[in-house]
Amino acid sequence: MSERLTATPPGVRLGPLEQIADGAARNFVLEMKAGRFHGFAVRRGDGVAGYVDRCPHMGPPLAQRLDQYLTDDGALIQCSWHGALFRIDDGACVGGPCTGAALIPWPLEVRKGTIFTA
Ligand code: FES
Repeated sequence: MSERLTATPPGVRLGPLEQIADGAARNFVLEMKAGRFHGFAVRRGDGVAGYVDRCPHMGPPLAQRLDQYLTDDGALIQCSWHGALFRIDDGACVGGPCTGAALIPWPLEVRKGTIFTA
């Protein structure tokens, strides 16, 4: 089994910002020589917040259903396993079994409507 990565090189093109509805999240899996990277991005207007798709509580990807990363009101990131809640801004866990921990940031940037790793 190849290693699961927690970072990507800069400049990887992830596609148009428009593929994520404003206020929604999307899963990304990148196959790289060193292994496979799982991350997700939350769109907020013209920007995105990216995190490694790994819950600090027990380590699984957060969403059991594709792209279901957010609470119903879209205000927080929610782990589907035991309900940990994370701020979209900085990934800090603000509720649930890993309060005080944080998601690992996945730096992203939007250039001319296209999302790239930063
Ligand atoms: S694995 Fe995410 S809350 Fe337990």
